[in-house]
Amino acid sequence: MKKICSLFLIGLLAIQCKNIQPPKSVVHKAQGLITENAMVVSARVEASEIGSQILLKGGNAFDAMIATELALAVAYPFAGNIGGGGFMVYRLADGTTGALDYREKAPLAASKNMFLDEIGDIINGKSTLGGMAVGVPGTIDGLFKVHEKFGTLPFSSLIQPAIDLANKGVVVTKKQAERIAIYKEYFYKVNGTKILLDSVWKEGDTIKYVQLAKTLQRINEHGRDGFYKGETAEMLVNTVQKLGGIITLEDLEKYQAKWRKPVEFTYKDLKIISMSPPSSGGICMAQIFNAIEPFNLSELGHNSEKTIQLLTEAERRAYADRSHYLGDPDFIKIPIETLISKSYVKKRMESFSWDNATLSSTITHGKIAGFESNETTHYSIVDKFGNAISATTTLNGAYGSKVFVSEGGFFLNNEMDDFSSKPGTPNMFGLIGAEANSIEPGKRMLSSMTPTIVEKNNKFYMSVGSPGGSTIITSVLQTILNVYEFDLGMQEAVNAPRFHHQWLPDVITMEPIGFDSTLIKNLQQKGYIIKQENTTIIGKVDAILRLPNGKLEGGADYRGDDTAAGF
Ligand code: DON
Repeated sequence: MKKICSLFLIGLLAIQCKNIQPPKSVVHKAQGLITENAMVVSARVEASEIGSQILLKGGNAFDAMIATELALAVAYPFAGNIGGGGFMVYRLADGTTGALDYREKAPLAASKNMFLDEIGDIINGKSTLGGMAVGVPGTIDGLFKVHEKFGTLPFSSLIQPAIDLANKGVVVTKKQAERIAIYKEYFYKVNGTKILLDSVWKEGDTIKYVQLAKTLQRINEHGRDGFYKGETAEMLVNTVQKLGGIITLEDLEKYQAKWRKPVEFTYKDLKIISMSPPSSGGICMAQIFNAIEPFNLSELGHNSEKTIQLLTEAERRAYADRSHYLGDPDFIKIPIETLISKSYVKKRMESFSWDNATLSSTITHGKIAGFESNETTHYSIVDKFGNAISATTTLNGAYGSKVFVSEGGFFLNNEMDDFSSKPGTPNMFGLIGAEANSIEPGKRMLSSMTPTIVEKNNKFYMSVGSPGGSTIITSVLQTILNVYEFDLGMQEAVNAPRFHHQWLPDVITMEPIGFDSTLIKNLQQKGYIIKQENTTIIGKVDAILRLPNGKLEGGADYRGDDTAAGF
C-alpha cells in the first residue's frame, strides 16, 4: 500500500504538472531578471520581494534568508514552512564557506520498526500521512542560528514582513488553487476536522493566515522559545498526539540545528560547494561530476544521446552508493573522502560502455576497504556585499503530513518517510535505503536536498538548488552543466528540459517535452527504459548566476510561480 500511496502521490503530481510547458517566448534565448547588486529568487513573488527589500535596506544575504524563509512559510504553505526543516549553504564575500543543517529529527520515542506491522510489512501511509509521519521541526531553530552568527538587522525587522503578509493575506495563484483542490480531501481525512485550506479557494481569492500571524508574533516576542516551548509547542504536541503521533515537548525543547562543513569538490575549473550529510546531495553530485569530468561534454552536446547516456550511467552508480552508505553522520560513519574521490569513481565507471546500458540489477554499491577517518522549496540569494546563500527547505510531501496545527496556523512535515522504514523497500520517491538510514531516536533522516554554490576562478559564480525529492540532485547538476558546458544563460538553463535516473527503478525519467522520438528510440535500442508519459516535474530550480560583466542573472523556474527580485 505504501507503494500504492507513492504511485498515488506521483499520479497527483503528474496531474498537477502534465500541462506545464515553458511559454514559447522563454524556450529560446530566455533571459531572467538582470540586476546590478543583489537578488532573491524563490517560489513566490511575495517572498522574493520581501527578501529583496531587506537587502535594499542594507541587510545581508543572511538577514534576507530569514525574511524570505518566513515569507515562504506564509505565501507558499505547500512547502514553505515553520513545521519542517532544511539546509543552507553559504559563501561569504571573502570566500569563507559553510553550511547549516536544520533538518528534522526522529522523535525520541521513535523506533526502527515503527512503520511495520507484526509480520514486518510496511503499514500503508503511516510514514507519509498523519501524526506518526512528523519529524521534529528544525526551521525556526535554524533561522535563529543564522541570525546569531550572521544577522545584522534585528530579528523583529526580519519576521515582521511575514506577520504583515499573513494578516493582510496572500492571493491564490492558478497553480496554488489546483494544488489545494487536489489535496483537500486529505486535509479532512488526516485532521478529522475542517482546516483553513479546506474550502474552495479559487485563483484570485485572498487567504488570510491569522493564526499563523499569531504564531509568528509569539516567535517575535519569545525568540526560539516562541516555537519550541510554551503555547506553540503545546499546540503542536497536542495536535500530533491527538492524531496518534509521538512528538513530545521534550523533543521540541531539545531540537538543535547544526553548523556543518559542506562537501567541496572541483569540476574542471569550477569549485562546487554543496550540502553534506545528512543530505546526500553534495556527495551524490560530486560522484556524478567526477564520473563525467574525463569527457568533453560540450562536444557531446546538450541533451544529446551520448550526454544522456553518460549522465545516466554516472547517476546509476552514485544513487546505488547513496542507498548503501548515506545517513545521519551523527549516527553512522560515512566514507566521504573516498566516495567523492576521483579515483574511486573512475573505478566505478570502468563497466560503462557506449554500446549498451548497464543494468541496475548488475550494479550495487562500490566496495570500500575500511572506512576512513553519510514538497520542498529552494531559494537563492546574493547581497550587494558579495555574500551568497543557497537554501532548500521542505515539509517533504505536498503540505507535509497534511497535519495542520489549526490554532497555530501551520502544517507539519512528513519527513519520517525519508528514513528507510524497511531496507530494500522504496519510499515516496522510490528511493531504496539500507541500515545507514534506518530509524533511531533523535536521528536525522537522509535527504536529497542539494543547496549549492559554485565558484569559478575563486569568485562567486552561481547559487542553485531545487525541490523534487530524489530528482533534486540531478536537476541541480544539469543546471550547472547547462550553463558551464552548454553555454546557456541562467534562465535558459533553468528552462531546459531535464531527465533523471536514480539506479532503482532502472528507468530514465524525462520531462514530457523537449526530447525527440529518434533520440528516445536510439536510447531504447541500447537497453535504456524511458519513462516520459505522466512524469512529474523534474526539479523546480531557482538560481542566480554572476555574469562576466559582474551583473546577476536570475533563473526562476516557469514550472512553478517562481520569481526573481532584486536591484
Ligand atoms: O529531503 C528530501 O530529500 C525530501 N524530503 C525532499 C522532498 C521534496 O523535494 C519534495 N518536493 N518535490
